[in-house]
Amino acid sequence: MLNTHYKDLKDSYLFYNIAQKVNAYLAQHPGTHLLRLGIGDVSQPLCAAVIDALHAAVDDQANKETFHGYMPECGAPFLRETIAAHYAKRGVVLSPDEVFVSSGASDELGDILDLFDKSAAAMVIEPAYPAYVDANVMAGRQIVHLSSGRENGFLPEPDDSIDADILYICSPNNPTGAVFSRDQLQAWVDFANRRGAVILFDAAYEAYIEDETLPHSVFELDGARTCAIEICSLSKTAGFTGTRLGYTVIPKTLERGGLNLNAMWVRNRTTKTNGISYILQKGGAAAFTDEGQSQIRQQIALYKRNAKTLTDALDRIGLWYCGGHNAPYVWLRCPNGMDSWTFFDFLLQKGQIVGTPGAGFGACGEGFFRFSTFGDPADTAEAARRLTALLG
Ligand code: MLT
Repeated sequence: MLNTHYKDLKDSYLFYNIAQKVNAYLAQHPGTHLLRLGIGDVSQPLCAAVIDALHAAVDDQANKETFHGYMPECGAPFLRETIAAHYAKRGVVLSPDEVFVSSGASDELGDILDLFDKSAAAMVIEPAYPAYVDANVMAGRQIVHLSSGRENGFLPEPDDSIDADILYICSPNNPTGAVFSRDQLQAWVDFANRRGAVILFDAAYEAYIEDETLPHSVFELDGARTCAIEICSLSKTAGFTGTRLGYTVIPKTLERGGLNLNAMWVRNRTTKTNGISYILQKGGAAAFTDEGQSQIRQQIALYKRNAKTLTDALDRIGLWYCGGHNAPYVWLRCPNGMDSWTFFDFLLQKGQIVGTPGAGFGACGEGFFRFSTFGDPADTAEAARRLTALLG
């Protein structure tokens, strides 16, 4: 009667597991101020342009003339058009009805699997955001684990031994911060088209790219319109982790087995949702205005200063790391041969610092550790100071 694939999952989800450990520590050490560099949750409030638009939208809901009931299931035309125009600035031409408004990337990464049969195999490049694996395990899908490591800069190339129908690619990567170059991503696009696979491209961190030779969107690559879906979010770009808003691009040219994935997703959304709240979509649209973009860039710059604070400390200590430049995560080698959960406990007990153990992102993450740069700047500076004192 029940979905027995749940038995195949690890006991608890990574970030839930960490929260339990942190709560247990706080129960034993009440009143401790923890320096939270664990889950990638933003510390800065929504920018003024978004807040103003949210307030105005609340007022709209108070008047019969401006009130909105159910919203279009695939997204309000004003927001779909705004997002398509945002892509156009990078030379990616989308029709607004190729853009679907969602309640966030993590929600969508699970929901989008409705498009695929249970027999489809999913390739996950590890270390990986754990929801990719767990969402597919819940559905009983076979997972093809593709390990990466320092030897390939955590950016593996496709090869013909990979037998998968769904290819998860996250660039800039969570957790390693590695970013596929244009040529590297092109190789994956060509591979997907050759194999008839579909890339699920997680672009949640694209706004952190500084090196403008790197692709922000998979649709900057030739051939992506026949093999890719892009999932993006305002969470890390505009501080919407608690407000929830994202978007998904499904080209109308994406077809498999005589079915059109854009049309399938319209059918899915019109059945399973009643649209995203009008208020949130107005707030989201404000993030794409010139004013919103300039305010968001200031927040991203603040998180990048956090990254520099942490990487300067790691340089002083002499620990190997990557990321933190074109991405909001710093991925480091645990010191003194510690495994990643031992280092987690060490930092929590000795420094009151919370990070994320690399082993939580897959077996090849063992021996590594992740710091989020989304924390409060003063806390991040204090964490850097304590790290240097503990390990320097
Ligand atoms: C993370 O810490 O990996 C992310 O914040 C998780 C998420 O976006 O759901």
